[in-house]
Amino acid sequence: MSRTPPAEHHDEAVPPAGITLAAAVSGRRSIRRFLPDPVPQRTLAEILARAARAPSGTNTQPWLVHVVSGAARDRVAAAVTEAARNGIQSPDYDYHPMEWFEPYLGRRRKIGYDLYDLVGIDRRDHAARKVQSLKNFSFFGAPAGLFLTIDRRLKPASSIDIGMFAATLMLTARDFGLETCPQAAWVWYGGLVRETLGIGDDQMLLCGISIGRPDRNAPENRLATERAPVEQFATFYDE
Ligand SMILES: Cc1cc2nc3c(=O)[nH]c(=O)nc-3n(C[C@H](O)[C@H](O)[C@H](O)COP(=O)(O)O)c2cc1C
Repeated sequence: MSRTPPAEHHDEAVPPAGITLAAAVSGRRSIRRFLPDPVPQRTLAEILARAARAPSGTNTQPWLVHVVSGAARDRVAAAVTEAARNGIQSPDYDYHPMEWFEPYLGRRRKIGYDLYDLVGIDRRDHAARKVQSLKNFSFFGAPAGLFLTIDRRLKPASSIDIGMFAATLMLTARDFGLETCPQAAWVWYGGLVRETLGIGDDQMLLCGISIGRPDRNAPENRLATERAPVEQFATFYDE
């Protein structure tokens, strides 16, 4: 564990490409199969530095980031995959409402079913669905993962700041040729992630993010998700 990324020979940072904001936003999608190519820690540190330009309430900057690669990544992946296989959860907070309702329920189902269709899983095949869902915990093959935590004493409002940080980070990553998958799946194993990495109980795991180079041939990376049109979610007041 170290606070500063080491400057080893294999650790050359990749320069940013200067992608436009429009291209970064429109081309981003959640990636669910990565290539194993390592991502230099210095590149990750540079992305984090840029993401930290995100706004936060009264500039509190409440994001805490735990970056895993190499043996640390493998250790968390092994521990959480095992726990998930055996149904042993240690959630840090309730991510879901008690019961989903429309329009959210339908949207959730659609992306799940679209993903299963793409990877050839029959939606009634619960064993195959479980295997697909366990891939969350191997970071979908990514060489690195980020765990975003927050001081437990902060109020839920501070997670707005974490969301802004995460979005900025995911767009910035694209400038470095990297793609991401934000993952709430880790939240159900927050206690175990913290225990494996030695993170204190004073922090709460808000989400994970897998990061790396995408496998452009993988069917799951072709998942194109829809968005509701502006008139469905925005109301304009003018008089
Ligand atoms: C907070 C958050 C949690 C998410 N959790 C997961 C997850 O655990 N596993 C997963 O495969 N995708 C996860 N996603 C990805 C969403 O499914 C995805 O963002 C959504 O379907 C829209 O697709 P897009 O990101 O490709 O535009 C998450 C996204 C967000 C923002």
